[in-house]
Amino acid sequence: MNSLIFPLAGNEEFAKSIALKHNLLLANFQIRHFPDGETFIKIDSDIKGKDCIIICTLNEPDAKITPIILLAKALKRMGAAKVGLIAPYLAYMRQDIAFHKGEAVTSELFAELISSHFDWLETIDPHLHRWHALGDIYTIPSICLHANGQVAEYIKNNIKNPLLVGPDGESKQWVAEVASMAAAPYIVLTKERFGDNRVKVSIPNIEKYIGCTPVLIDDIISTARTMIEAVNHIKELGQSPVCIGIHAIFAGDAYQKLLNTSPLDIVTCNTISHITNKIDVSCIITVPE
Ligand code: R5P
Repeated sequence: MNSLIFPLAGNEEFAKSIALKHNLLLANFQIRHFPDGETFIKIDSDIKGKDCIIICTLNEPDAKITPIILLAKALKRMGAAKVGLIAPYLAYMRQDIAFHKGEAVTSELFAELISSHFDWLETIDPHLHRWHALGDIYTIPSICLHANGQVAEYIKNNIKNPLLVGPDGESKQWVAEVASMAAAPYIVLTKERFGDNRVKVSIPNIEKYIGCTPVLIDDIISTARTMIEAVNHIKELGQSPVCIGIHAIFAGDAYQKLLNTSPLDIVTCNTISHITNKIDVSCIITVPE
């Protein structure tokens, strides 16, 4: 295959495993910041006529967006045939509606920005709630992969007698599928959000599952408020849950706060590098021809 891989800082391990699996070359290039914070780019690989793939997970996206757009533009200007973006975590999917008058629907604006600089996009479990597919907002070809199989495999191999628990209605899409793959029962809690950091989770009657190991599953752990509320409710039944998140954002001190609730374990996928990464999903990445 003729593609070259350009991992941005922090994405090297993920990129190496893709390169190995798909027999691709890692590009010889530099991208760093000048002392004043501007981006410096130098491309030493011969990229003329080649497909280039930038790998950059997009947690804390605002600091990453300028470098990846400048790199994509530089590659095009130097003769790359196509420039694709693999973003294991895709940012800006959660503001999918104007909740209040005057709010920008940034998921749509961000999609426009990415679509105008890349030829294709690939990601893992983007937060599709009011948007049903990436194609609703992205105008470039997009590939949407799912970590469900890897999560189910982890549960089957590591957790005895699991009861899968979705912390809110939105999580049902993941929990139901993982439960079916892991051949385990599941329930879904109800959640109300009162602001960025205030969440109330209610629990249905789960007494009939006493003796099971509760396994909370969500796509994103950001402030961890959703997980924390759910852990505290589940603990009232006398059993600490395992918390599984696909994307380990852990904003600010969210990880410490979740640890303070003493869950049985905290497990995430490696879409965002974090100490809790125990599920490797680099193996599900595909490389378009
Ligand atoms: C929201 O609908 C998502 O599925 C997650 O539940 C949410 O993003 C988690 O956010 P936080 O960790 O800030 O509660």
